[in-house]
Amino acid sequence: MTVAIHVERLSKTFKRYQPRRYRTLKESLINGEMFERRLSERVEAVKDLSFSVAPGETFGIIGRNGAGKSTLLKLLCGILKPTSGHIAVNGRVAALLSLGVGFHEQMSGRDNVFLNGLVLGLSPREVRARFDDIVTFAELEEFINAPVWTYSTGMRMRLAFSVAINVDPDILIIDEVLAVGDIAFTEKCLARMREFQARGKTMVLVTHEIASLTEWCRRALWLDQGRARVMGAPADVAQAYLSECSEAASISAIDAVA
Ligand SMILES: Nc1ncnc2c1ncn2[C@@H]1O[C@H](COP(=O)(O)OP(=O)(O)O)[C@@H](O)[C@H]1O
Ligand SMILES: [Mg+2]
Repeated sequence: MTVAIHVERLSKTFKRYQPRRYRTLKESLINGEMFERRLSERVEAVKDLSFSVAPGETFGIIGRNGAGKSTLLKLLCGILKPTSGHIAVNGRVAALLSLGVGFHEQMSGRDNVFLNGLVLGLSPREVRARFDDIVTFAELEEFINAPVWTYSTGMRMRLAFSVAINVDPDILIIDEVLAVGDIAFTEKCLARMREFQARGKTMVLVTHEIASLTEWCRRALWLDQGRARVMGAPADVAQAYLSECSEAASISAIDAVA
């Protein structure tokens, strides 16, 4: 196995539909249609992206809001289909995406753990064997039979992280959600991620903290309007990104003065 993830000329375009408006009776008699047609706008969230991640590597992604980071992660774990290009993933993937994805609100925490475990490729017996560890790590012993809609954001994050790490995937994908928990829990997550890394497993991390790029990653990608702006050593990527951010900040400061 030479690569964990290989992405080639990957693009994803969304159509953003404008809300339709009912016509008045008179308008529809004239036009013959009840709805007014509105043009839909195309959003190129990921554009012609190519890269590989080696087994055991931690690959970091930074970029502004709307740069396409979450879209890229969803493509990597198969939640979204590419508009064009190819993705090859070797090994079992577990992902911790934006909150809410992957839980069924009406179902209990317990049933969600089982469902998620099965979706991630475990057998029912394997889920049962790991169930107590998952619940204990998430600190949800008292709430595991309650429906997920009663959970706070922090509780959801704890459960989602606990499932993802305890199914022991080959590749762990994390979308800047760790900040949601309290400090003690975040520390616990980071310790498990270090352990995962030390065992030679692969991670893809989206982060908004520049420091964690250099702290965690062997390579990094700066995603800008869906395109790869800079890819390479985390320190270089971080510096390029920071210098543009400070440029943008001084331009807006000049605008404010003008
Ligand atoms: N399901 C969707 N339908 C339409 N547009 C979307 C959808 N998901 C994301 N987008 C758009 O794609 C772009 C990239 O979004 P996203 O991947 O969430 O960026 P990031 O995670 O870097 O903030 C944004 O312009 C966003 O509005
Ligand atoms: Mg995002």
